[in-house]
Amino acid sequence: MPIMKFQMLLTAGVAGILLQSGCITAAESSRERISINDDWRFTRNDPVAGTLDSAATGLTDNLDYPRNPGRSGRGATTAPTVDPTSGIAAFILPTGNDFIADPANRYVRPAGNFGANVPYISLNFNDAEWRKLDLPHDFAIEGPFSTAGGGGMGRLPSAGIAWYRKHLTIPASDAGKQIYLDIDGSMSYTTVWCNGQIVGGWPYGYTSWQVDLTPCIKFGSDNVLAIRLNNPPNSSRWYPGGGVYRNVWLVKTASVHVGHWGTYLTTPEASSASATIALRVTVNNDSKVNAKVSVATRIFEIDSEDHRVGNAVASISPVNLMIESGKKVMTETKGAVANPKLWGTGPHQRPNRYVAVTTVEQDGKTVDTYETVFGIRTLKFDPNAGFFLNGEHIKLNGVCNHHDLGALGSAVNYRALQRQLKMLADMGCNAIRTSHNPPAPELLDLADKMGFLVMDEAFDQWVWQKTAFDYHLIYPEWHEQDLRALLWRDRNHPSVIMWSIGNEVGEQTGGAAGAAIAKELTDICHEEDPTRPTISGMNSARADSPFPAPIDAIGLNYQGTGVRSGSPQYPVFHKKFPNKFVVGTETASALSSRGVYTFPVAPGLGTPASANAGEEPANRQVSSYDLYFASWAYSPDREFASQDKYPYVGGEFVWTGWDYLGEPTPFDASRSSYFGIIDLAGFKKDRFYLYQSRWRPDFPMAHILPHWTWPERVGQVTPVHVYTSGDEAELFLNGKSLGRKKKIFDTPGQAMDGEPAYRIRWDDVKYEPGELKVVAYKDGKEWATDVMRTAGRASQMNLKPDRATISADGRDLSFVTLAVQDSNGITVPRADNLIRFFVSGPGEIVATDNGDPTNLVPFSSHEREAFNGLALVIIRSKPHESGQITITAKSPGLKEAHVVVKSQ
Ligand code: GAL
Repeated sequence: MPIMKFQMLLTAGVAGILLQSGCITAAESSRERISINDDWRFTRNDPVAGTLDSAATGLTDNLDYPRNPGRSGRGATTAPTVDPTSGIAAFILPTGNDFIADPANRYVRPAGNFGANVPYISLNFNDAEWRKLDLPHDFAIEGPFSTAGGGGMGRLPSAGIAWYRKHLTIPASDAGKQIYLDIDGSMSYTTVWCNGQIVGGWPYGYTSWQVDLTPCIKFGSDNVLAIRLNNPPNSSRWYPGGGVYRNVWLVKTASVHVGHWGTYLTTPEASSASATIALRVTVNNDSKVNAKVSVATRIFEIDSEDHRVGNAVASISPVNLMIESGKKVMTETKGAVANPKLWGTGPHQRPNRYVAVTTVEQDGKTVDTYETVFGIRTLKFDPNAGFFLNGEHIKLNGVCNHHDLGALGSAVNYRALQRQLKMLADMGCNAIRTSHNPPAPELLDLADKMGFLVMDEAFDQWVWQKTAFDYHLIYPEWHEQDLRALLWRDRNHPSVIMWSIGNEVGEQTGGAAGAAIAKELTDICHEEDPTRPTISGMNSARADSPFPAPIDAIGLNYQGTGVRSGSPQYPVFHKKFPNKFVVGTETASALSSRGVYTFPVAPGLGTPASANAGEEPANRQVSSYDLYFASWAYSPDREFASQDKYPYVGGEFVWTGWDYLGEPTPFDASRSSYFGIIDLAGFKKDRFYLYQSRWRPDFPMAHILPHWTWPERVGQVTPVHVYTSGDEAELFLNGKSLGRKKKIFDTPGQAMDGEPAYRIRWDDVKYEPGELKVVAYKDGKEWATDVMRTAGRASQMNLKPDRATISADGRDLSFVTLAVQDSNGITVPRADNLIRFFVSGPGEIVATDNGDPTNLVPFSSHEREAFNGLALVIIRSKPHESGQITITAKSPGLKEAHVVVKSQ
């Protein structure tokens, strides 16, 4: 698509999501979206002959979706290897039919049933012995950690078979309705049976999908859902989790109703004076007779709690449709909003949102009400000037994040996601790349509400494999459905600004064949949503190779800035593609362990981590001077320098915002990454302040590193670095000035001698205990200070909840930080005391952690060593029980600590 036309389309603001149940409900509608997360039964593995009281335990049907590992290395083709007419694949493939554009390519569901001899699927199977639990559920996070094999997937037992069962009573009054099961994500290769009848399934664990339960539901009676999944080993380069790890919903509609993700709302013109609304609505007629309907929409402003504010701000006049029985019709409607409150981000804009409430009337009666949340904004991707939101230039100060929630695993939790985003926002981060897969819907809801810009990513691999059982096994049969499902689900979100079709796919260097896939995926994105560009994270495609050409924007992983001393590719791609927007889709990959410092400290812009530079091989830790990185990467400072040098670059997505389970480079024996700006427990590493100093230039801050408790270093050179949003700083040790310095490389002979620097360093400080203080200046005026004091012996503990009041819904969390302190309340920076946590009142301990990537104690343990002075305990409310939750910490030799969290 030519860039000019594309840019015109891009000025359209877009958005919208289906509201979660409990938000906006319209009394007149028969649509219901009911959470069915509670009261499931769970077991691992298939039934084994002889272990059940029933004789019928033999599995004659193979319940595993076919997979042939290793079929697709370099140069693999897109030819499917699954026979779509045989085995369980024949029953699963039709689930994705709505997302296959060409009817000729859709799958035909065979008659009959599959797995009928498996006792677990039947209504009468007695599952009383199975474990009782609520979803979302990640079975792997319970551990134990394994010391065998590689660390890439987090050393947790995520592979294998799991079954979930739930009984549902569907009232007789629902007869005649459509009943659907919505699964936001299930890891992976999932199949669903309802009352013993197979209804469908989905292999890719990150896609949200729906199955129609209507034909097998017994109205006015008990029903049972049975879900089986089989998560392969070696399926991922990070921790995938395992189980039904996202929310599940029962959706009930009239037989004439808006289809699944059946609206698409864009704003072809948008300004603060007025916006035009283009709303496509797809109405399904699942009744036995033709239907004459009228479709109308009203638009309301909504607040941050999803509540409507005031009267409708606009209406779209009714459109009349005739829909044949068994068919669906898409209608395009148009409206306008005067003086809209635009959706935006950053210090100058607010994330204002609206809801389009669409009603479907049949014979004068409202049969469906469907809500599309959206925002009105314009996007412009300028190849020469970067990204513009509502006309304002905004640098993408972004991070990549994987989907796990640390000690909570992959089981989605709204509050935990909100905590992640809130901390990133405090740092000045305004953009998220959902590396490398479709996110939980809640992430996008939060991004809409909090004003984050999202690069929504589909895949980590296409046909060329990265690991033996990864997505390449199903790419040929499923990529179209997975991509279109992502686009339908997410295209109404104002936060989503780009579609990433893949990360570092092998096909980058696959010549014309690789480029052909990139074109096919870009074409799909354009068909479903012409308002946003496609992008792909490229670490090895060259500017003169065929790969980048068909993709709308240029996303460079590391090579933009140049790998180590390699030449920066930002200017090379910019020159070759003068009409394409360029952004750093992955940058830095700095390595560090919170609170660990090694000496001597690397000069200049740093050096790859090694046994001689930054690493502590015996402890498997990496120094936090933020000057050590993976061999293919570089320091945050170097990326800043290149962003400043090439101002047309739209910004960066740092690898990564939070540490994540798996990929523990450079120490494979560990459980979790060292790449995060924030550690796995949610404690800030020093780097947090480096990014904050750049991304929030108007926020007065200064941060000293390292800590100042080094009894073994008295008289030794112990460099002090300061991150500040000021431009100058003076450092004092025990009241004596060590000099006032500007943010420039001012050490003669250094790599960037005389160039701007992003930290201020005093590299020749000789350690003496006491007080280290920095006073930062901006434009000659005092701007911010920070103090670091030498700690004495550990004698007490401090417990600090991130929220002192939580809601008594059985899901809300309080993240409580424990600090080991001396008698003056100074955190003892290398304390590793073993702490035992206790809780009383209407709450429970869900997990503990300390952010140490090497720690293999299961997260469910109530006992945890402090790591460099800190530990975390995560408290969850009990449903419907309000009162005071008291958390107690005990540790030999330390004074006991208590804190109270209120649940209401
Ligand atoms: C990139 C890759 C990421 C992660 C990162 C670590 O090449 O896209 O998924 O592996 O390296 O530095």
